Amino acid sequence: MKQTILITGGAGFIGSHVVRLFVEKYPDTQIVNLDKLTYAGNLENLSDVDQKPNYTFVKGDIVDRQFVQDLFEKYQFDGVIHLAAESHVDRSITNPIAFVETNILGTVNLLHAARQVWDGKMEGKRFYHVSTDEVYGTLGATGLFTEETSYDPRSPYSASKASSDHLARAYYHTYDLPVVISNCSNNYGSHQFPEKLIPLCINNIKAGKALPIYGDGKYTRDWLWVNDHATAIDTIYQNGVLGETYNIGGHNEWKNLDLVHLLCDVMDEELGKPQGTSRELITFVKDRQGHDRRYAIDSSKIARELGWEPSVTFQEGLRASVKWYLENEGWLDNVTSGAYQKYYETQYKD
Ligand code: NAD
Ligand code: TYD
Repeated sequence: MKQTILITGGAGFIGSHVVRLFVEKYPDTQIVNLDKLTYAGNLENLSDVDQKPNYTFVKGDIVDRQFVQDLFEKYQFDGVIHLAAESHVDRSITNPIAFVETNILGTVNLLHAARQVWDGKMEGKRFYHVSTDEVYGTLGATGLFTEETSYDPRSPYSASKASSDHLARAYYHTYDLPVVISNCSNNYGSHQFPEKLIPLCINNIKAGKALPIYGDGKYTRDWLWVNDHATAIDTIYQNGVLGETYNIGGHNEWKNLDLVHLLCDVMDEELGKPQGTSRELITFVKDRQGHDRRYAIDSSKIARELGWEPSVTFQEGLRASVKWYLENEGWLDNVTSGAYQKYYETQYKD
């Protein structure tokens, strides 16, 4: 193997797409997937690549500093793509401490271990920290987040991710650690845990359950197909300039209610039901505390400097995603049993 890359959080939604892309595209590179396998981590996501000779899975917690240090010493990684995180805003509202531990402490443990092991031999190394547009806070009706937008995180999740971004930059400036960062908008696609809006609605439509819309449903997100996020991560890992930040987005803003309407219509078509059937399940529920009104990304820097653009329209990506969830009922059944049921009852009780 020419190189060894550590991917953290590779059993999660985005991480599994990144692992698959790297394992298949770079057969001479050893990919080590480090994941704690929390409720959001699922090795089934990687069943199509886990037998490849250039793939290794390690179960472990990035919060465990000694474990992380030992792992870096054992594998002598050439690069790191760090995705492991607690990622759901609603969970961060009920349990912020877990977000501080994994997202902040876990990130600094990885930065610290990389600095120790790469000391005096930073040449050719790369630490890629994957982050979110939510660090920029919330927008009014107009405007876009650029790489220069000031940080203004407003949920425990976004505050913990903002903190991890600052630490990654601090390691670049203070210790010359070869850091690159990206901040991406909301992802959708296959293998997403059904606590997030799109797979939650797909799962509920299948079950004939209510589709919970927070507040007035006019909250706006900029949606990107997860496979396109994975190609952006590959592009930045290979060609991004050290010390730089790249915003990644889909030029694809939707108000939640409009998005759910479209999703209902696609589901009706795919399930062979009369148009309008699924829309009847829409139910307005209590708003999220501190709910950010609008996110929208200016991704012109990555387009201009690295030549990356999304490859599909939202209509194409959404239909492909719907088809995947309908064709992979077993996956949905496995992840929605047990602990998820309990979470769902608590989150949507009022
Ligand atoms: P996810 O919740 O689906 O997956 C997170 C993965 O990290 C899981 O496999 C989990 O087991 C693992 N993990 C959690 N805590 C860990 C720990 N302490 N040690 C080791 N592994 C641990 O999240 P996702 O949606 O795939 O997001 C991945 C990354 O991308 C996150 O850093 C997130 O902030 C960022 N991001 C997500 C989105 C989005 O829309 N989902 C958008 C932009 C950025
Ligand atoms: P989510 O998928 O949780 O992503 P994020 O909060 O990181 O943007 O939510 C996307 C949008 O959908 C957000 O405005 C909250 C809203 N939402 C609902 O209206 N109902 C729901 O049940 C969920 C999970 C989210």
